[in-house]
Amino acid sequence: MRPETMQGDAPFWDDLRTLYPAAERFVYLNNASDQPYPRPVAQALHNFVETSCEGNPEDLYTPEVPRRLRETFARWLGCSADTLAFCSSTSDGLIKAVNAVAWRKGDDIVIPMNEFPSVSYPFKMAEQDGARVVFAGRSGHPVTEEDVLAAVTRQTRAVAFSWVSFCTGYKMDLAVLSRDLKGRGVEFVFVDGMQGVGAWPPELRDTDVDFFAFQVVKWIAAPSGIGALYVRPGLLDRLRNPCLSWYSVPCCEDLTLLTDTDLEPFASARRWDGGTPPWLPMVGAQAYLDLLEPAGPEGVAVRLGHLLDDLRSRLENAGVPTVVPLSSSHRSSIVFLDLPDAAEAQRRLREADVLTAFRMGRVRVSPHVYNGPEDFDRLVRVLTGAA
Ligand SMILES: Cc1ncc(COP(=O)(O)O)c(C=O)c1O
Repeated sequence: MRPETMQGDAPFWDDLRTLYPAAERFVYLNNASDQPYPRPVAQALHNFVETSCEGNPEDLYTPEVPRRLRETFARWLGCSADTLAFCSSTSDGLIKAVNAVAWRKGDDIVIPMNEFPSVSYPFKMAEQDGARVVFAGRSGHPVTEEDVLAAVTRQTRAVAFSWVSFCTGYKMDLAVLSRDLKGRGVEFVFVDGMQGVGAWPPELRDTDVDFFAFQVVKWIAAPSGIGALYVRPGLLDRLRNPCLSWYSVPCCEDLTLLTDTDLEPFASARRWDGGTPPWLPMVGAQAYLDLLEPAGPEGVAVRLGHLLDDLRSRLENAGVPTVVPLSSSHRSSIVFLDLPDAAEAQRRLREADVLTAFRMGRVRVSPHVYNGPEDFDRLVRVLTGAA
C-alpha cells in the first residue's frame, strides 16, 4: 500500500470520484442503502455478460474466481480465507450459523432492540427448539456495549447484534464486546456485519466473535447475491452441519468424482458454501475491491475518518446535532441527524437532488469514500435553507 494513498485527501480519492457518474448528477449520501457502481464495476459486469453472449461461457466459470474472492474478502475482514464460507446474503449466512448450533430449552439469546430483521428472525428457528430471545437496550436509543452486557445473565448462551446499527449508526467495539461476553460465559457471539464491511476493517482475528456475516451492495458496490460467513477457527468441528452439498466436497472441482457419494467435506469453512457460485455478483465484488486495493481496508477507514471529521465540523457550525456524536469512537459511516422536522428536511433534500434516506423518523446520511466536502457543503446548505 502506498503511504500517500492512506491520506484521506490523497489524489487517489479525487481520481476515484471521477469514476462515479452518479456523483456528477446527485449529491449521493445514501450508500447505506445501495452504492452506485463505479465505472470499472459496471465495465467488469458488462464484459462478463458480453462474453456469456458472444464468447465461450466456460472461460468465465473457473475455480479461480471464488478462490480469489475468498482471499480478498479475508483481507477486508482481517481473517484467514479458511474461515470463510460464501453466502448469498447476510440472512443466508446467519441462518446457516443459527442452524449450526444445537439449541436447548433454557438457552437465552440476547439481541439489541430495533435490530435489522436479518438478525432477529433467524433466531426464531432457535425458539422452535426451546431457546428464548431477550431484547437489550431502550427502543429509539443507540444500544451500547453496556446495554448488551447488562442484559446477559447465567442463562445467556448467545448474543447477536449488528456491528453497525442501521437505525442509529452506532458501531460496536467488536474486540472489547466479544471479549467481555466470553468473559461472562456467553458461548456464541453472532454478528451482522452488513453495515460495516467495505467501510471499516473488523479485524476478526483480533476478536472473540464466533460468526460474522455480510454481503455486498452497500459498502462494496456489486450486485446482491454474494457475501461471506466467518466461522471462528476451531468451531466448525464442534457444530452441526447446516449445509452439506456437492460444493462441500471436492467433486465441485474434480468432475470425475461427481458420482462418488462418500467424499469427505472440505476441512475449511468452504464446506458451507452451498451450490454453484453466483458468478456475476462475484465478478462485480472482485472488480470493486480491486479498485480499492491501492488504499486497502485501512486506507478506506482513514479516508472515512477524514470525511466524518469534515461533516462533523460543518454540522456543528450549522447547529445540527447527530444521534451518535461524530466525535465518538462509535461513529460509523451512518449518520442520523437530530432535526425537529425530519420529514420536511428529507423532502427538501430530495427536491435539491441531495439523496439521503429516511429511517425511523430521522434523516440518515451515509457517505462513502468517493464523497467529498462539496457534498457536505450542499447538504448543509439545503438543511439551513441557504440553497
Ligand atoms: C444491518 C443490516 N443487515 C442486513 C441487511 C440486509 O440483509 P440481507 O443481506 O440478508 O438482505 C441490511 C440491509 O439494509 C442491514 O442494514
